[in-house]
Amino acid sequence: MIIRDARFLTSNSRADLCPAPTLPEYAFIGRSNVGKSSLINMLTGRNGLAKTSASPGKTQLINHFIINDDWFLVDLPGYGYAKVSKVSRAEWAKMINYYLRNRPNLMCVCVLIDSRHAPQAVDLEFMEKLGEEGIPFVMIFTKTDKQSTAQTKALITEYLRKMSEIWDELPRYFLTSAETARGREEVLEFIAEINQQWQADAAAGA
Ligand code: GTP
Ligand code: MG
Repeated sequence: MIIRDARFLTSNSRADLCPAPTLPEYAFIGRSNVGKSSLINMLTGRNGLAKTSASPGKTQLINHFIINDDWFLVDLPGYGYAKVSKVSRAEWAKMINYYLRNRPNLMCVCVLIDSRHAPQAVDLEFMEKLGEEGIPFVMIFTKTDKQSTAQTKALITEYLRKMSEIWDELPRYFLTSAETARGREEVLEFIAEINQQWQADAAAGA
């Protein structure tokens, strides 16, 4: 997919205030500091489109971007940030759960996982919940430039092993790096395929 245009639209705390659900939407989520905003900038080829930061907790709201006037990309605030109070954590959960359940155009949640860290309960639990609610998701392993591919693959095997204890079907996954743009084509092609399906369904329904 060629990115002709990528623009920031809105920041919201509530799904019902987000842009009208007229285009297919992809949400990026994961632990704080995992590299969500960096990945969005890498995919769109627009440095500075999503705000990045070395300190966790930068993204606090539901941020909508419109790509090629064709699809929505959403940067969600991260979870599992240790310094966040219980109240903020509960508010985060409320905002995210409401968003996930109230976006009819949400095609896929991209769960970002730092490729350097052993499987974390918070990530496994979040994906388990997506699975239970029937919300489609893929795993995107980030920061793969920081270690060897063999180390990344060992981590992925470990994740899939843990997930196969619960699920018969395992999610699709991607290896990425915002530094080297690894995985860019694969992720964009995946999105393009779903967009095509959306357009075909819309045409059939019209
Ligand atoms: P919050 O919005 O705070 O939850 O963080 P985030 O998940 O959006 O992470 P962000 O993109 O701000 O990146 C966090 C830090 O990781 C920054 O210092 C980035 O430069 C760094 N980073 C992100 N992706 C990569 C990557 O692929 N490779 C390397 N080496 N560093 C990365
Ligand atoms: Mg961010």
